[in-house]
Amino acid sequence: MVRKKILITGGVGMIGKALIKTLSNKYNLIVLDTKGQIDRNKKFLKKRKNENFKYFKINILNKKKLNKYFKKVNYVIHLAAMLGVKNTEDNQKKCWKINFEGTRNVLEASLIHKAEKFIFSSSSEVYGEQKSKKKIIETSPLLGSNVYARSKIESEKLIMDQLFNKKTKFTILRLFNTYGENQVAQFFIPKLCYSVKYNKKFIINGNGSQVRSYAFCDDIAEGIKCCLLKKKSSNKIYNLGNSKQVFSLKKVAQKISKINKKKVNIVFSRNFNKGDRKKEREIYQRVCDIKKIKKELNYDPKINLSDGLTKVLEQKKIYKNWPT
Ligand SMILES: NC(=O)c1ccc[n+]([C@@H]2O[C@H](COP(=O)([O-])OP(=O)(O)OC[C@H]3O[C@@H](n4cnc5c(N)ncnc54)[C@H](O)[C@@H]3O)[C@@H](O)[C@H]2O)c1
Repeated sequence: MVRKKILITGGVGMIGKALIKTLSNKYNLIVLDTKGQIDRNKKFLKKRKNENFKYFKINILNKKKLNKYFKKVNYVIHLAAMLGVKNTEDNQKKCWKINFEGTRNVLEASLIHKAEKFIFSSSSEVYGEQKSKKKIIETSPLLGSNVYARSKIESEKLIMDQLFNKKTKFTILRLFNTYGENQVAQFFIPKLCYSVKYNKKFIINGNGSQVRSYAFCDDIAEGIKCCLLKKKSSNKIYNLGNSKQVFSLKKVAQKISKINKKKVNIVFSRNFNKGDRKKEREIYQRVCDIKKIKKELNYDPKINLSDGLTKVLEQKKIYKNWPT
């Protein structure tokens, strides 16, 4: 049987690497990422390089160069993005360019080469801080207003508009807090693990009672795979996360201390003047409802927070930042 060809943008990031592991024995993969990220992950990539697995250093903003990699591609999984609260707030123009204009480039190339499917990693940030304390469903209002959230909201609209009535189908996945190996210490969990590993103090905004649902990257990769396999996912939007692993920031810190048998040195920034998120950007409660993707695509996340945290803590190295 001829293997289907999948192109993954941002394919050497945290979720991209988890995807490569689940997809590479059944599909032909073309992985695109920045020069810095590919150089950092040389060992991982070289080990896999063969005629069914190719990777290229390419910035998705380089429209001309981008096109040539899409020949005969069946599925496009578009993960490349600029993320991280501080990173995107400090570099708003760059964030908009990569996340919106970059998505437009990847979408155009997918259309030119008539890909069957375009899968887009949107984010729960599109929902912003909801008025209701209920779990968030796909029809909940889109209240996200920071540049990252807007870049994802506008990209979603662009995809739905451009692919309306086209042969190329889309699936938009709104990912909720995802963590795992290879995540840089610019996010809550890897940052906490980094602090424990390297004996640094850790700042929590407010009193740490903010609640999130946490999904491990391998479960997210499985969710993306469900969209490749199931026709029902065409032209749909799904929440993707783990609605069973719901904890406050404080509880996550306690779990890390327990696994590592070492107390985390936490400093509470009650007036939010030391942490990454400004008070206006804080999200107090964000928990996903994943009934839709469970019912339609049989998605079933398996990894609980303690097991996932153990894997993150076992890593030899946690990078503090993205490569330049
Ligand atoms: N991790 C989460 O909690 C989370 C939550 C919601 C949505 N998402 C989305 O999932 C996707 C993957 O996120 P991740 O957690 O793996 O992040 P990541 O930072 O590990 O991966 C993103 C990848 O995109 C690449 N990239 C950035 N700019 C690029 C450019 N101009 N050209 C080519 N490649 C570029 C980066 O080098 C990186 O490898 C992103 O679209 C993100 O917005 C992630």
